[in-house]
Amino acid sequence: MATAQPGLWKRHEIFEKNSIILLLGALIVVAIGGLVEITPLFYLKSTVEAVEGVRPYTPLELAGRNIYIREGCYLCHSQMVRPMRDEIERYGHFSLAAESLYDHPFQWGSKRTGPDLARVGGKYSDQWHREHLIDPRAVVPASIMPAYAFLDRPLDADAVAEDLKANRALGVPYTDEMIALARTDLKAQLDPDGAGAAELQRRYPGATIRDFGGDSTRAAEIDALIAYLQVLGTMVDFKIYEDKQNLR
Ligand code: HEC
Repeated sequence: MATAQPGLWKRHEIFEKNSIILLLGALIVVAIGGLVEITPLFYLKSTVEAVEGVRPYTPLELAGRNIYIREGCYLCHSQMVRPMRDEIERYGHFSLAAESLYDHPFQWGSKRTGPDLARVGGKYSDQWHREHLIDPRAVVPASIMPAYAFLDRPLDADAVAEDLKANRALGVPYTDEMIALARTDLKAQLDPDGAGAAELQRRYPGATIRDFGGDSTRAAEIDALIAYLQVLGTMVDFKIYEDKQNLR
């Protein structure tokens, strides 16, 4: 049997025979490890890299997001494409941290009774979403998703400015102008020919302005929810990055 080096054993003896000193020693080692990992984070300007195209949600999208959370859609749907081949082939480019930069709270989730929704924007028409939410079995016969027909009721937009404010308190860069005009912008997003459309585009570059398959003169909860679903995963134009890769 090989004997341990006598010198090393002697120096270690104090730790092995005294549990308090062993505990303190372990604490010191773990603290050093922690410092090495945590300290650099304080010197980074941001731990999440900014990515072109990611903008705060419009008031209508934010209202839709609130309905998504209120109805517990996250109990069956995740919103994060993991960087694994099967996921990327099914859902598209894996999710970037910046894509949920303005999500408070984030909707990553781990439960997938239904498919991941991180890139569902643009996958279906507004009409498809409307029919699917009202009666999932009408478009997907084997679906076990509950029906949300009751969402075709007027959207209560009174609190939307407060929602923007709350998000600003959490770091979303909504300006005073955006907050003051939140209700106007909410209605403007449903009407591409309306007076507020250009202003909305200026405040939220790239925002989609259309009736989302509903009635542009009246904002319903389902319109807001569809506006939210249709923007998911569409803010970053991954074609730019794919083209750059092809050039290399
Ligand atoms: C009980 C679980 C469950 C809940 C709750 C649920 N869903 Fe689903 N969802 C599913 C299942 C299962 C599917 C797949 C079958 C289908 O398309 O209906 C699905 C499909 C979808 C799809 C189509 C995704 C795709 O890529 O084909 C969308 C969009 C969707 N759900 C949105 C929602 C929204 C919005 C809510 C909340 C209002 C919600 N779901 C709540 C189970 C659920």
